[in-house]
Amino acid sequence: MTSHQIRQAFLDFFRSKQHLIVPSAPLVAKNDPTLMFNNSGMAQFKDFFLGNGTPPSKRIADTQKCLRVSGKHNDLEDVGFDTYHHTMFEMLGNWSFGDYFKKEAITWAWELLTEVYKLPKERLYVSVFEGDAKDGVPFDQEAWDLWKPIVGEDRIILGNKKDNFWEMGDTGPCGPCSEIHIDLRPQADVDLISGKSLVNNDHPQVVEIWNLVFMQFERKADSSLIPLPATHVDTGMGFERLCMAVQNKTSNYDTDVFQNTIQVLEKLSGKTYGANQEPFADIAMRVIADHIRAVSFAITDGQLPSNVKAGYVIRRILRRAVRYGYSYLGLQEPFFHKLVPVLAEQFKDVFAELRAQEEFVTKVILEEEKSFLRTLESGLKRLDVITTSLKEKGINTIAGAEVFELSDTFGFPVDLTALIAREKGLRIDETGFQEALAEQKKRSRQDAAKEATDWVELREADGVEFLGYDFTETHSHIVKYRKVKTKTGEEYHIVLDRTPFYAEMGGQVGDTGALYWSVDGETKKINIIDTKKENDLFVHISADKNLDDSLKSAGIVVARIDENRRNKIKANHSATHLMLSSMREVLGSHIGQKGSFLNDEVLRFDFSHFAKVTSEELRKIEDRVNEKIRENISLNVLSNVPIQEAIQMGATATFGEKYGDFVRVVIFDPAFSLELCGGTHIPSTGEIGVFKFISEGSVSAGVRRVEAVTGEKALEIMRQQEETLNKLKDLLKSPTDLVKAIETLIDERSILQKRVTALENEKVQVLKADLISKAEKHSTFSLIIAKVEVPHADALKQLSYELKDQVENLIAVLGADIAGKPQLSVYIADNIVQETGLNAGKIVKELAKEIRGGGGGQAFFATAGGSDASGLETALAKAKELF
Ligand code: ALA
Repeated sequence: MTSHQIRQAFLDFFRSKQHLIVPSAPLVAKNDPTLMFNNSGMAQFKDFFLGNGTPPSKRIADTQKCLRVSGKHNDLEDVGFDTYHHTMFEMLGNWSFGDYFKKEAITWAWELLTEVYKLPKERLYVSVFEGDAKDGVPFDQEAWDLWKPIVGEDRIILGNKKDNFWEMGDTGPCGPCSEIHIDLRPQADVDLISGKSLVNNDHPQVVEIWNLVFMQFERKADSSLIPLPATHVDTGMGFERLCMAVQNKTSNYDTDVFQNTIQVLEKLSGKTYGANQEPFADIAMRVIADHIRAVSFAITDGQLPSNVKAGYVIRRILRRAVRYGYSYLGLQEPFFHKLVPVLAEQFKDVFAELRAQEEFVTKVILEEEKSFLRTLESGLKRLDVITTSLKEKGINTIAGAEVFELSDTFGFPVDLTALIAREKGLRIDETGFQEALAEQKKRSRQDAAKEATDWVELREADGVEFLGYDFTETHSHIVKYRKVKTKTGEEYHIVLDRTPFYAEMGGQVGDTGALYWSVDGETKKINIIDTKKENDLFVHISADKNLDDSLKSAGIVVARIDENRRNKIKANHSATHLMLSSMREVLGSHIGQKGSFLNDEVLRFDFSHFAKVTSEELRKIEDRVNEKIRENISLNVLSNVPIQEAIQMGATATFGEKYGDFVRVVIFDPAFSLELCGGTHIPSTGEIGVFKFISEGSVSAGVRRVEAVTGEKALEIMRQQEETLNKLKDLLKSPTDLVKAIETLIDERSILQKRVTALENEKVQVLKADLISKAEKHSTFSLIIAKVEVPHADALKQLSYELKDQVENLIAVLGADIAGKPQLSVYIADNIVQETGLNAGKIVKELAKEIRGGGGGQAFFATAGGSDASGLETALAKAKELF
């Protein structure tokens, strides 16, 4: 079976067991503060387990793009070194949401593996949870009893909490699990050592392929477990490992999932994979073949490489790949981006989003590569300086702090530093480096951490009802709340059963406002400073103090948003839609949304485009938007449209956003603007008033950013500009032509500057003549020692050089006080240097002590700067005595 057939067989099998097949969620996790990337198939269904929402079907199956490079599940450092871990991998999964449980999960898994994939039964082992006293979870007798008749007792292994209790993160849904392992070793090896003893022992050919999790608990922040409202099944099968097993290979990289990429790499590098060459060449090929998938799909799903958070994780993965190519495959020109088309072709039927953005993803990676290769260059230079100076001093270890600086500031990888150091006969202080790294990690942890207590549940609720499209005020109840420690203090997070508050999403900021309720006839009010989404929850954030008692006693609550602020936000959101359609008209249909942010002041929009947007283009877009504002087009919203229908209508979807089966379509004239959007909008475009760009620039390779303002804010900005102009006119005594007046000022300034320079040169000439006339003549040399007035330090050098042209056998020591900074220079004619061995560099160092400074140079000329100008006279006197 090809990998394609293997994937399809999985989906078909579970379809035949009444499962709904859904698409993979984007790789980048949205609205979940506990995750950066989707790290498992169940991440997108987390809320269904917790009871915060209802799934579209009680049985679901899919293949999910997963990334395990941060947080609880992080395999990054293993990737490439072994043959069965990945950064990005596909997880095949089937789920039951309160429907079937252990029996079906176990029998179906066995049926699929042995009857569809025809994996040899005698090579399969299963594990069952042995129980954990501390957590109070007993041995999983039920799973044991189910497996026993299928595989026989001797092929069941008991596993502890580490191996057989699955948790998504530090908190959240979890439960005991039962894993299926396969032994892929040659028969001779199997005859020698039983596979059973190798399960869970990091053997590359005795690996876990499928994990069946029986979701029963929720792990709370205080690490206690509470039972979930219902029991569920969450399974995850590593697709790449399954392919290795079905295709009877000894490494994931030998399957057709990776071979295309590896073949291209072989062509690019001229090396053959697995040809017993230097071991690191094979590792490098695996690293690269793995990492290109993670990087390409992350960018496709909207996560561009950057210097912060998830973007930084992607940048680091990209750099790890480029560096392995650079160091071990001799690939010193950008190469990584050349692998994107291979993946786009391979996944065109499964994850078509990559094919659709192939050019964009390729260009982003190319630019990243170029900039990293430049970083490597400057890091190499810096490393060269360090190693040369250590060698001169006879030291053979590069200090930990220096290794850390190279990696932190220059992005220069530690193992590359170690490698180059080794080549130069040096070593690096590994311990010192680890200390510096730990110190930095501690600092960033302190910066980042928000500490949350568990939710305090006040009443049952079946999800949240968002009423903010139609109302600015609702009657609600508080469902639960929690306290969160932030860097600056404390916040309360409050969940309501119904709310008019829009939670930050799709670029639109969360609403602010207040909650009101009555306590003994008096009105209690708490301020809401922001509203955020956490999976499907709407979290209202308050910075008010000591709310516990009043939250607990609140009955019916009036939730009211700041309507004036919301109106401005709405105008900016609708303007963003008009702008996007206008951009597509003016710049081309390739314009894709790469990021959006809008609040009551400004709208900011990032989009894929490879050139600067010219001012003429900006003007055209602006004109078009304002035309549509004046047309006063009415808003038309279609709710619950089947997604396929919406796409057929011509609605634009954003890559990396997750859409359900039914979507909301926001329309301003079906012939002009149709967007899939959950945001809030104005009833007719005239309310925007006016639209004005305020900036255009680049965010990263292939991504531009514009900012614009509307309505009142636009007027305010125009007024500010007018005021600046008026002030300028006043300053310049109200000229008729302001531009002309400023040009004249600039011209005059440059003429004056030239005259100042000429005068300064003249002064130096006079000074020179004076110095020559005062030179002390000795039989073998002429001595000039003087304090002079010069405009800048370079003039001392110029003066000394001019003097030597006119005075034979010159020794000149000059001092100057340049705006409080003392400077010294020493010149000794070449022939004197040769005859006497005098050295200007050494002498200037000695003299510089008097001005509390230092310096150096060559034997015939050297300079020094200092911090104490009062020592200049002494320094010159000392020079005189010396010579
Ligand atoms: N959620 C389980 C895992 O990721 C299936 O292993």
